[in-house]
Amino acid sequence: MSLTPVTLKSISSIVEGEKNIVANLANITSLLFSEGDWHWVGFYVLDKDEDELVLGPFQGPVACTRLRRGKGVCAKAWEAGTTLLVKDVHEFDGHIACSSATNSEVVVPIKVDGVVVGVLDIDSLEFDGFTSAEIDLLEEVVTIIEDIWER
Ligand code: SME
Repeated sequence: MSLTPVTLKSISSIVEGEKNIVANLANITSLLFSEGDWHWVGFYVLDKDEDELVLGPFQGPVACTRLRRGKGVCAKAWEAGTTLLVKDVHEFDGHIACSSATNSEVVVPIKVDGVVVGVLDIDSLEFDGFTSAEIDLLEEVVTIIEDIWER
């Protein structure tokens, strides 16, 4: 199965009426994981005290708990504040291989009041494993998350 606009409707209805961000992120990962046919789907959230990204709700293999600035796909997207698509992670200087089976990856930053508060990170077993339509939908998912983020 692949991600479709119906996924967005499902996400909107799942988060409607629930204020807790961890519960909402957990259900969003479940939905994206089951509909997107990807290897790993999850969130890293900003730990302001440590100035690092720390693992949040996810589905898939056990992953790196903390990601520092300056290294890896997630940190690059965090620092740039824009979506980062890596069609072949083996060609990406500094890629952090939480799973050696991953071949491509996309990271979408979550921004609140112009500041990155976390990222949505998705790994695929396929090279070039994300269509532009899927990336558009993932960015729309992140827009929903930005609207419900606890301020
Ligand atoms: N590959 C990421 C690390 C997180 S895992 O993919 C779950 C990176 O390079 O930042």
